[in-house]
Amino acid sequence: MYFIGDEEIEALKKLFERKKLYRYQSAYESECDLFEKEFSTYAGIKHSLLLSSGTNALSVALLAAGLQKGDEVLIPAYTFVATAAAVVHAGGIPVIVNINSNLSMDCADAATKISAKTKALILVHMDGLVADVDCAQKLCKERNLIFIEDVAQAIGASFKNNKLGTYGDYGCFSLNENKNISCGEGGIVITNSRSGYEKAFCLHDGPAQFNPTKKDFFKEVTPFMGLSARVSEIQGSIMRVQLTRLEFILKELRTRKNIILDTLKLLPVNYCVKGYSEQGECASSLHLQFDSPDKTMLLGKQLREQGLMFLPVTNRPAHASWKWTHLLGDKAHLQEGSNPFKNNSHSYIYMAADYVQSVDILTRTLKMDIDIHLSLEETKVKAEQIFKILNQ
Ligand SMILES: Cc1ncc(COP(=O)(O)O)c(C=O)c1O
Repeated sequence: MYFIGDEEIEALKKLFERKKLYRYQSAYESECDLFEKEFSTYAGIKHSLLLSSGTNALSVALLAAGLQKGDEVLIPAYTFVATAAAVVHAGGIPVIVNINSNLSMDCADAATKISAKTKALILVHMDGLVADVDCAQKLCKERNLIFIEDVAQAIGASFKNNKLGTYGDYGCFSLNENKNISCGEGGIVITNSRSGYEKAFCLHDGPAQFNPTKKDFFKEVTPFMGLSARVSEIQGSIMRVQLTRLEFILKELRTRKNIILDTLKLLPVNYCVKGYSEQGECASSLHLQFDSPDKTMLLGKQLREQGLMFLPVTNRPAHASWKWTHLLGDKAHLQEGSNPFKNNSHSYIYMAADYVQSVDILTRTLKMDIDIHLSLEETKVKAEQIFKILNQ
């Protein structure tokens, strides 16, 4: 989250004066309902559902899309552990696919990992970059897979004039504190499918079907037992304000990243990592990639010594698959009966050696967050410092 202030305080003040924090309000449209409408308009999608987290958004989307216990789901080797956890809790088996040097799922590798049990593919847009949407979408269409976009780290980014999240059958977002916009914790599921939306709604709040305000809601789906991943009006209210800040945040980030990219273009070698849309990405971070892990470590150290906080992307505790694959298999679920790895005709073994391509790329990649609070002049100075170190 980049900004929070008077506007959110004012919105919460009004909310608290009204003394109604439950999302179902009969007398007027709730803050949650209004946010969902506003987000649908912003994203260019028919349905949005605000819920308690990005992980729940992914699980709900997978289940709404029809994932069955033991189905395989392709996920990239570079993603936060939550992508894999959401698959397991929806009853699926995560199958790890290599990434390419653009830090996107490698579609060619994904194609080789499709089996008769593969049901879905989750394309993750990491670090604000745009992943290979065209290729993933084509593969899912050809192989009849559910296509889900994990946009937790790239809310607001776009590809070919459409917002990320709208290309998949479902798009899933996180509104946790570390994201572009946030209400502390939260998530959003978006879809153009009415029945998918109704299923997602019931999954996120089973008792909703008994609420008078939802009496006529279920049109295409017979309600079933759902969970409670519902949010309160507090999240709805904060998110309505946060959404109004999003385009400004993206503009400011992009301006600063472009200043640095323009300076680094003058280097004889290009070290900067590109996603699949330079204009559409969030520009929340800048990645540098070198030809060896040793050089990466050395340059990373030199950059940090000058206060330029380029960290190895593998530095984060749970963002590279080999840091969380030990949690899969027997340890994946508390209940043996609900563990998709148990009583499975296939035994799944996860080894970093199976994704050496990703290990190789990630151990040669550094990431620095773009500082939105630096002035343009300060950003230019920073860009020149980076240039000097890389131009040795
Ligand atoms: C790529 C990715 N997917 C899913 C999630 C899960 O979101 P949450 O923490 O809101 O459950 C995150 C959170 O950081 C994430 O980075």
